[in-house]
Amino acid sequence: MSYTQNSRRNFLALSAAAPAALTLSGAASAQTSKASEGTLPGAGRAAIVTGSSRGIGAATAKRLAKSGFAVTINYLTSADLAAQVVRDIVAAGGRAIHQQADVADPAAVKALFDANDKAFGGVDVVISNAGIMNVAPFAQMTDEAFHRMMLTNIRGSFNVLREAARRTRDGGRIITLSSTSIRARRATHGAYAASKAAQEAMPDVWPRNWRGGVSRSMR
Ligand SMILES: NC(=O)c1ccc[n+]([C@@H]2O[C@H](COP(=O)([O-])OP(=O)(O)OC[C@H]3O[C@@H](n4cnc5c(N)ncnc54)[C@H](OP(=O)(O)O)[C@@H]3O)[C@@H](O)[C@H]2O)c1
Repeated sequence: MSYTQNSRRNFLALSAAAPAALTLSGAASAQTSKASEGTLPGAGRAAIVTGSSRGIGAATAKRLAKSGFAVTINYLTSADLAAQVVRDIVAAGGRAIHQQADVADPAAVKALFDANDKAFGGVDVVISNAGIMNVAPFAQMTDEAFHRMMLTNIRGSFNVLREAARRTRDGGRIITLSSTSIRARRATHGAYAASKAAQEAMPDVWPRNWRGGVSRSMR
């Protein structure tokens, strides 16, 4: 992983093995990071992790909280699991809220960011993690399974990354989860891999959306 810096923003892109992640800075507002106020790297900063009621999202949210970030937990239907993630973070001395939002719904995504901003004053790290994996051989993939997966993984990711691009404070990070399925060529993963390839393509153009450079490395 490596960094390029300019006067206002840090750019970082990385691609990891499984899941792959691409990160860039987003800097829609001119607010100043407050990380220097505390000893932990996330002190004075806030993070939104979509799909963090369980799985990778929940683990990521807890790890961010351990680093001092206030975290907004997001879920689709698992209110109890999301509340438990919040309780776990608070019990460990962190700060967290949970907010239901279907990432496929732009208004709900806006409300998710609004809830985070109301609780924590702004956002510094956005992790577009919510995703679903509907796998089947092509002949057996249903329209409903295909449609729901594209809505969540492509439109949902776009909704989150767009809101993140508008709101993430200077020096922040925006991350989206890809998958090794893109290259694994599993017989049942065609549609899922296509949705993840679309998700992975989006951050590739971000350096052209902001001034400054981008560095990228594989690991
Ligand atoms: N697991 C892997 O091995 C692997 C490998 C590569 C990449 N990935 C990627 O990593 C991400 C997380 O995977 P995971 O295995 O941890 O997933 P998971 O355990 O199935 O959890 C999915 C999370 O996303 C939420 N979610 C689903 N649809 C949503 C929607 N429309 N709006 C908001 N939240 C929604 C779920 O909320 P509810 O609990 O409310 O349903 C849950 O919190 C996904 O993007 C996946 O493609 C996973």
